[in-house]
Amino acid sequence: MPQPVFGQPIFNEGIASADPSHFLVPHPSDNQLYKQLGDALQKNTVGFGPMRGKPDDTYTLATAYGARGDDTVKAILANGKIVFHAMGDSGASDFRDYTSQLHVADQLTADALQSPSPDRPTFLYHLGDIVYNFGETKYYYDQFYEPFRNYPLPILAIPGNHDSFLVPGTAPEAAPLEIFSHNFCATQPGITVEAGDLHRTSMTQPGVYFTLDAPFVRIIGLFSNALEDPGVISSEGGKWPNVPDLQLEYLKAQLTRIQSENYSGAVLITLHHPPFVFAPQSGAQSPGSHGSSPSVLRQIDTICSEVGVYPHAILSGHAHNYQRFTRTLSFGGKNREVPFVVCGSGGHHINSVGGSNSGQPSAEPVFGTDVSYLEVNPAVQVTKLVLAKYQDTEFGYLRVAVDGQRLRIAFHLLDGTGLNQSEYDVVTVDLATSTVVAN
Ligand SMILES: [Fe+2]
Repeated sequence: MPQPVFGQPIFNEGIASADPSHFLVPHPSDNQLYKQLGDALQKNTVGFGPMRGKPDDTYTLATAYGARGDDTVKAILANGKIVFHAMGDSGASDFRDYTSQLHVADQLTADALQSPSPDRPTFLYHLGDIVYNFGETKYYYDQFYEPFRNYPLPILAIPGNHDSFLVPGTAPEAAPLEIFSHNFCATQPGITVEAGDLHRTSMTQPGVYFTLDAPFVRIIGLFSNALEDPGVISSEGGKWPNVPDLQLEYLKAQLTRIQSENYSGAVLITLHHPPFVFAPQSGAQSPGSHGSSPSVLRQIDTICSEVGVYPHAILSGHAHNYQRFTRTLSFGGKNREVPFVVCGSGGHHINSVGGSNSGQPSAEPVFGTDVSYLEVNPAVQVTKLVLAKYQDTEFGYLRVAVDGQRLRIAFHLLDGTGLNQSEYDVVTVDLATSTVVAN
């Protein structure tokens, strides 16, 4: 591949081009593969190595920008605010979904190019499931590089289950996590074979889990492994023997650093599998939806309690819709309200929150429903869990803004044409009190 001059990152093409009309590499139906895999999707976790550096190291936004990094950070600080995009589950494994994926990517691109300063986003944080079905080299171009060819910003990512599940018999060098690392965790920015004739360079994240340190916000990213459900971030005492406990030490080190620095910005935790996914109280998982990951949440809660730092919000993907919970807890002698946001509506598919099964109508909850029953053995003192709002018919993405005082998470909706957007939902958190305030 021709490589960038002086090893500097490149994000988009010099000349914008129209959306493609077809996949470069045809993608066969999922059905046969899924039938073959059977319950491996619920059992086969994957191993991974430590991130580069020490567990409390951060990866700065300036590094992602290369030579333009210092000026970019200075401009954000001068604006007094940072704005970024986030969403998950963008990959279109079926050509019938490609239009949706392209519409989301096009809208993100238009937003990045057209928003006036200081509201212009500075990066996209992908919440995983970038390439379906399982992160194959040959599908990266159609599902990642081509849709984002005009997107002018860095794209950082944590892997989803589709970026990590290892189909039995796959050669080690073709393992999806290897391909992900090659494209997102390179030691130097370079044009990868997956980018084809496009110029977006590989990202230089230190690992599949990493902490992004940007002005006003620190994002602690966790890799929640390869299962359909649940998320897995550690061995859980030997239950998942090939999963290292590296992320427990890492999470503790990052939170301890935040504590010792008396960090005053917004603290976010991201992981692909959501701690909470709506399901009716009957206990049945919503058909077509993914379930909650209470064990992961318990581990996060436990480490947060040990250190005495709780994030201002938790962002996830995986469920193919938008769900915003507010978890009220008593932590460190304060009552806190923590948004748990699911944004898996990045283009792959949309599932109803209530689900529908065997011709039965779906059980759509009302906004503000108390779903405290979704709490399973919490390791913090929880007062209430509410499903504040959701959207399960249209695609969309998050626009997150942080200044010195507040974190603002907005879900932007694409209309049926994908040509327009609207702010469908917004939640604002006061950083000092960690409570939800008027927008
Ligand atoms: Fe997923």
